[in-house]
Amino acid sequence: MAADTSTRGSGAGKPISVLFVCLGNICRSPMAEATFRSLTQARPNSRIGTIDSAGTAGYHTLNPPDYRTMATLRKHGINNYEHGARKIAESDFDTFDYIFAMDRSNLRELQRLQQRADAQRGSKTKAQVMLYGAFGGKNRDEVVADPYYGGDDGFEEVYEQVQRFGQAFLSEVVDEKQ
Ligand code: 4NP
Repeated sequence: MAADTSTRGSGAGKPISVLFVCLGNICRSPMAEATFRSLTQARPNSRIGTIDSAGTAGYHTLNPPDYRTMATLRKHGINNYEHGARKIAESDFDTFDYIFAMDRSNLRELQRLQQRADAQRGSKTKAQVMLYGAFGGKNRDEVVADPYYGGDDGFEEVYEQVQRFGQAFLSEVVDEKQ
């Protein structure tokens, strides 16, 4: 289901808050969050509000990111990132303007949870839920594959993808709303 951009989202000029979501919140979404923080620090005038990440599952709640995520970030000069894993909460759909899924399974789960949140409160929650690869991805639906059971090169690929998607999101959406 496509994101409903007609009735969700923040007003122009307001800070834009962003949540990155994968399954476990220890590999892909922390990489997306840390790289996006780094990109926004390089653009101090960007209207960016809260930045966070979460998982659709709670297996790793409060755990730090996977050591391979941290090693990949350090390799690219990002040394100051800290995070404790958490599971997505219903309130996230009203806190964040954009909730970015790393893959289609994350996206489906987020859409299901958002529909439930909408139904419970009787009106639409704020967040636009979409694939992160809708920005800067091949065919605008590139997924970030789960690197957890693979080698270090999978983490390097995740880094390259989230860096590319973050740059595209900043130039296509955030800079446009300045
Ligand atoms: P992530 O990777 O969703 O990118 O954080 C995973 C981390 C842990 C597990 C699966 C995926 N796990 O099954 O524990």
